Amino acid sequence: MEVQGLVKDYGPVRAVAGLDLTVARGELVAVLGPNGAGKTTTLEVIEGLRRPDAGTVRVLGESPAQARGRVGVQLQEGALYADLTCAETLHFFARCYGVEAEPDPLLDMVGLEGLGERRTERLSGGQKRRLQIALALCNNPELIILDEPTTGLDPLSRRRTWELVRRLHADGRTILLTTHYIEEAEALAERVVIVDRGTVIDEGSPAALVQGLGTTVTVTVTAPAAAGLDRLPGVISAQHDGERWRLSAAAVGPLLAALTANLGASGLRDVWVQGPTLEDVFLARTGRRIEGGPHPGEEG
Ligand SMILES: Nc1ncnc2c1ncn2[C@@H]1O[C@H](COP(=O)(O)OP(=O)(O)OP(=O)(O)O)[C@@H](O)[C@H]1O
Ligand SMILES: [Mg+2]
Repeated sequence: MEVQGLVKDYGPVRAVAGLDLTVARGELVAVLGPNGAGKTTTLEVIEGLRRPDAGTVRVLGESPAQARGRVGVQLQEGALYADLTCAETLHFFARCYGVEAEPDPLLDMVGLEGLGERRTERLSGGQKRRLQIALALCNNPELIILDEPTTGLDPLSRRRTWELVRRLHADGRTILLTTHYIEEAEALAERVVIVDRGTVIDEGSPAALVQGLGTTVTVTVTAPAAAGLDRLPGVISAQHDGERWRLSAAAVGPLLAALTANLGASGLRDVWVQGPTLEDVFLARTGRRIEGGPHPGEEG
């Protein structure tokens, strides 16, 4: 799949501003970016649902419209027919592709076993999302496009969805997904494409992106906003939101020693040490954080 110089405007809003994105056959690529970065718009052009204002898009060697039958799509906000059961919904979508669905294996695959006869209006939000993923598989696609496949899922369902995505990938399918969950991109993707304001700001394997930063540790600590922690020896970058400081440094020992000296042992509160993440990559490139996703430690 190859996108070059993609531009898409909604009236005065430039949603995609010259975006390049290539996905090789069999790759698993995550597009990571904050709300409004242009992820969904880009996918919708690739899916043949929107016309680009400029740029070229080739999907499986064809135009997006020609390739549609070979692509499975889970929309960020796909609608379901309330009166249809899960099995009927799968049959209906499969027939739109001119094929027959086998609902039971598809429902098993997404963790909805036994719910074939349930009407979609009686599914929970997370179950609806999983049915949407099953719909993306009903035409046995070569390329699977998932727009935020785990948003709204509980932590266990999220892990199960990751396993499903990994299985589909191991099965030889090409997968392009979006997320604003840092840990999801890190856990799943071979290659992460970070987008912001309609363009790609960096890309690579999660490990390579993080190594490229040169920092090795981030310490988050509670201290007065006026503490001036950005001036501590060894601090490479520092941000604070009120009393919550986030410091990057090359090594953890000297930084903790400097913090203890500065704040006093009893003043050292709520210390959290972590290796660099894709959040730090985004921060380094844009000066902002990716919003929207809870931190893994905060969700239960
Ligand atoms: N149908 C539309 N009409 C007008 N503007 C739109 C429309 N859809 C999206 N936009 C705008 O285009 C920009 C990109 O939106 P898009 O939905 O592609 O972002 P996104 O990266 O998918 O965000 P999110 O993480 O919130 O899903 C945003 O500024 C958004 O407000
Ligand atoms: Mg979106």
